[in-house]
Amino acid sequence: MSVPLKTATARAWATRRSWDLDDVLPESLLAPPGAGPVASPEHEPRVFQDLVAEYDARLLEAELLTRGDRLSAPFREFLSAWAADEEKHTDALGRLYRCAFGGDCESRFSRLRARRGDFAPLASFLDDEFKLGVMLAYDEAMSTQGYGADIPFYESLGRSDAQSSAFVRVLRELKNDEATHYKNAVELLALRHRGRGGEVAPVMEEIVAHDAAQEEYRATFLLDHATNQFDATMMGRVGRAVTRTLERRLG
Ligand SMILES: [Fe+2]
Ligand SMILES: [Fe+2]
Repeated sequence: MSVPLKTATARAWATRRSWDLDDVLPESLLAPPGAGPVASPEHEPRVFQDLVAEYDARLLEAELLTRGDRLSAPFREFLSAWAADEEKHTDALGRLYRCAFGGDCESRFSRLRARRGDFAPLASFLDDEFKLGVMLAYDEAMSTQGYGADIPFYESLGRSDAQSSAFVRVLRELKNDEATHYKNAVELLALRHRGRGGEVAPVMEEIVAHDAAQEEYRATFLLDHATNQFDATMMGRVGRAVTRTLERRLG
């Protein structure tokens, strides 16, 4: 059984939940006895896109670490906890992918290792920890909503009832981790930028406009919303909700 307990930490901006992939989606479910046929290939790109976006967290982490000493110590703590979780999400979706679609996926996965992010369009956000924090809060809130809405889709990919149940458990863990990342970003901003609540709305407007206008995802992890699952209405709604929370917390 998964035990989604929050790990006690004095650093509210670097909280991690505790859960074990081997409990949630055991390897034994890769080829369950009496399993039905693999999931329809038409669903494969959607799962692979989610997997790729999680994988790209390591590209964003590497890009941010090039900023060296300009990153604050609390931001580094946030980043370290976040990166560990996103790597775990990549492992979880990779195993789910193998369960659902079967076969030898190594060639598909090997393409991930050649990915390079194009961070130039986001440079003005990445160079400013306040703007980056607002973007991370927005992006993680979007991920939370996205995985929540995706649960029935993932459940439908199971080749057995046991697989379907396990896929639902994976999606819930991912969704709850993303919600924790959102809260961590809020705590980080509250710690580092108290009194700047009035500056959040214009930054968020810029982020949502950038997100809505983006026609192609550029392997940046951030703003991976150029798909049918997301639209400008949802972006605006999430952006406003995050803005209200940050205005309250930052003062
Ligand atoms: Fe994730
Ligand atoms: Fe996340």
